[in-house]
Amino acid sequence: MRESGGPRDLLGLTFAVSAGGTREPIDPVRYLGNRSTGRFGTAITRLAAERGAKAILVESNVASDVLREAGDAEIRHAPSALELRDAMQAASLEADVLVMAAAVADFRPAKVSPTKQKKTGESFLPIELVENPDVLAGLAAARRPGQTIVGFAAETGDERCSVEDYGREKALRKGADLTVVNGVGEGIGFGDVDSRIVVLDSKGDVVARAEGSKEELARVIVDAVVRLRS
Ligand code: CTP
Ligand code: CA
Repeated sequence: MRESGGPRDLLGLTFAVSAGGTREPIDPVRYLGNRSTGRFGTAITRLAAERGAKAILVESNVASDVLREAGDAEIRHAPSALELRDAMQAASLEADVLVMAAAVADFRPAKVSPTKQKKTGESFLPIELVENPDVLAGLAAARRPGQTIVGFAAETGDERCSVEDYGREKALRKGADLTVVNGVGEGIGFGDVDSRIVVLDSKGDVVARAEGSKEELARVIVDAVVRLRS
């Protein structure tokens, strides 16, 4: 479904968007996870489809009521970081625009137990972790001519660095064409709340600033992609 009267400026393009938060299995009943709801990525996917793109949503543990918001998108499931990497690599073969909105766990348990670990007896603590591959950096390094890669940087900022400066460091390090820096923390960023974003280009220069609902900000991000590709 699309909004009546909206632009169809993305006709002929394929968008692949990752959304949600990966879960890294410890055993059949436990995982390491994060607070991402997938609302941002879902809003971008829906808007891309409404504006005429073929939209693929690669979702990591997004709740079904949020997934329904994806509109006409094709939905692919990728619960863990390694599954997300494989799904985005596969989607990148056909995608003109790749958006990494998912919160990918930085680490995963080195060993996954096939049976439920007991708290008594031989303890499974401490859990040894290994680093996950950086999916965004991998997609950017393998970018085809004409492909546009969009990354996110969710930051709280701290006494050393502002939200924007941490985002700029990621823009320069990961090789994305656009980096959407958003502030997260108490009452901002996660879930059904307003967000504030700064969109940076590959040199770290600001191309857009905005504050609002994830739907409003999705429009700012898609418009930045369109401007970059024109
Ligand atoms: N990302 C990714 N693969 C990872 C980690 C992150 O593709 N293993 C992507 C995210 O989807 C996002 C961007 O990289 O688009 C920034 O994620 P973030 O967690 O902010 O960056 P990190 O490099 O993991 O840095 P840190 O968590 O230390 O701030
Ligand atoms: Ca991270």
